[in-house]
Amino acid sequence: VARLAQKLELTLGLVKPDVASKPEVVKAIREAIIKKNFYFANTRMLTLSQADAESFYGEHKGKFFFPELIAFMTSGPIFAHVLARDNAIKEWRALMGPTKPSQARKDAPQTLRAQFGTEDTFNAVHGSDSPMSAAREVGFYFPDFNVDEWFVKQEPAFA
Ligand code: PPS
Repeated sequence: VARLAQKLELTLGLVKPDVASKPEVVKAIREAIIKKNFYFANTRMLTLSQADAESFYGEHKGKFFFPELIAFMTSGPIFAHVLARDNAIKEWRALMGPTKPSQARKDAPQTLRAQFGTEDTFNAVHGSDSPMSAAREVGFYFPDFNVDEWFVKQEPAFA
């Protein structure tokens, strides 16, 4: 278990309201995640309240895009995933691609934002950007999620 625990990293992945309402896109994103060898350690569907969205994106308060970002993120259901694999934080960000879908389509056309995002605001997915933010963000959506328990439970799957 210790060996596996060292190899697996967790990150928080969100499927945003622009695409969470489209079953065929949800399915395509799910398949892309599995193809890149992530495990879904936990998943929930929810709609963010105004207060929750402002708290989750607290570091961006005051930026010009903040009101639009909050309006967008509270506009409908989202999926929150705890994604696990080696180097999960970087690998999930690589799969998402650049923040802006227009730039993603130029620089990284295979990425999720290039394929499924439409513009700056509507960029389909979110991912934690560091181990510290991953810990905070997983805890935000899954306050009862026990990382150690998950590794123990998963052990037979790797045997
Ligand atoms: S920053 O200032 O460098 O931290 O910003 P960035 O990392 O590019 O973006 C932070 C999050 O804000 C979203 N964002 C926007 N939302 C709406 N409209 C505009 N113009 C906009 N620009 C950036 C961006 O998608 C990031 O959201 P997450 O969910 O973290 O990907």
